[in-house]
Amino acid sequence: MPDQPAYLADHQTRFLEELMDWLRIPSVSADPKFHGDVLRAADFLKSRLEEAGAVNLELCQTAGNPIVYGEYHAGPDAPTVLVYGHYDVQPADPYELWTSPPFEPVIKDEKIYARGACDDKGQVYMHVKALETMLRDGGAGVPCNIKFLFEGEEEVGSVNLETFVKANKEKLKADVILISDTGMLANDVPSIEVGLRGLSYHEVEVTGPNRDLHSGIYGGAVMNPINALCTMIASLHDENRHITIPAFYDNVEELSKEERAEMALAPFSNEEFERSIGLPTAAGEAGFSTMERTSIRPTLDVNGIWGGYTGEGAKTVIASKAYAKISMRLVPHQTSEEISALFQAHFISIAPAGVTVTVKPHHGGEPVVTPTNSVAYKAAADAMETTFGKRPVPTRGGGSIPIVAMFKSELGLDTVLLGFGLDSDAIHSPNEHYGVFNFMKGIETIPHFYRNYAAAV
Ligand code: BES
Ligand code: MN
Ligand code: MN
Repeated sequence: MPDQPAYLADHQTRFLEELMDWLRIPSVSADPKFHGDVLRAADFLKSRLEEAGAVNLELCQTAGNPIVYGEYHAGPDAPTVLVYGHYDVQPADPYELWTSPPFEPVIKDEKIYARGACDDKGQVYMHVKALETMLRDGGAGVPCNIKFLFEGEEEVGSVNLETFVKANKEKLKADVILISDTGMLANDVPSIEVGLRGLSYHEVEVTGPNRDLHSGIYGGAVMNPINALCTMIASLHDENRHITIPAFYDNVEELSKEERAEMALAPFSNEEFERSIGLPTAAGEAGFSTMERTSIRPTLDVNGIWGGYTGEGAKTVIASKAYAKISMRLVPHQTSEEISALFQAHFISIAPAGVTVTVKPHHGGEPVVTPTNSVAYKAAADAMETTFGKRPVPTRGGGSIPIVAMFKSELGLDTVLLGFGLDSDAIHSPNEHYGVFNFMKGIETIPHFYRNYAAAV
């Protein structure tokens, strides 16, 4: 692998310390008790961007958390890149499963451990330090105009960013979007995600009797809402792990044999996948590989389920209500609107006699596939090839970044997902971490992207 440029090596310690200062601010968007910290994290980012050389900095107020905006001006003839990322993080619960506290970052085994280390503060900070690196004394300069757009509500659905984008189309005018909020296959197998799944998310409530009942007096003669919910959920998959909602697969894009054969060439080990999460065997939809199941196929998962008595000891009760959170990952050309309607109608239709069911939709998002034949993709692939010494392979990702489809539909812009995380970084889980290697490689790679892109357009 090529050596790190001298400036990065000389300033690595400071870059890491700055990132760790930022990670110390618990910018959890889901929990109102962290609201002040979210604002502090936005301020911190704005100041660091300004110090790095960005201009026209703004904290754009929204109905929720502020958007951090800034620009770099290269000149009227230079192309404009809109860099998006998020400074909010997932809740750190359960705290007791962290080996070091989530908001007291530490470096262990060459990895930064903290909530947000990879998703997405660590990856956003690469862009701040890449800007500094390009503009430092003796740096090569920045050949592109840049618009930085960092939001504080990605982890809760980006609802206010959507409004902001629709209201600020002129301000956000650009030639391409650049995002570092995804992963690659391995540190020695660079890759670029060229697809994201969509999301349809629902909370369901099953109601039986008008109060909790003694399970001896009433048991056997009433439909137990928890039993009913379990039966209903179990019926959502068949024995091949196909989803049974009628018409669910109607619009799913089927890849050709050739496309699937090409996907299968990506270096991916099923054994390593199983080992890394402590499973004897992977499991999923019949007829598809693990890679396919987590990228080009839609899924349905229960994310939470509750009801009845869960305290100490035994309580013989039939609960009046049972609840679950159920989400579906969507692929092209499913839409969250279509799938949400199908789910809602089906779930209500399968309710057994004796219970009533309500379905409440949460935020959704649309799937996207980003082009691999674009100037911007090639600029990113060439940049990675330079810094990793290996050509990155395109992969279809399994996660969701709902704003990416919005950028396409509202601004007409394609995105390049230049992410440096790894699946093993434990994002959203206890002990989230980000490799120092990955952080520094990002800072090194991003300037090459700007250079390649400006030279090609
Ligand atoms: N950065 C992730 C998405 C991601 C992770 C994409 C890894 C590809 C690889 C993002 O912050 C995220 O967690 N998105 C949520 C959706 C959102 C609506 C809460 C997700 O995918 O669950
Ligand atoms: Mn993210
Ligand atoms: Mn996330």
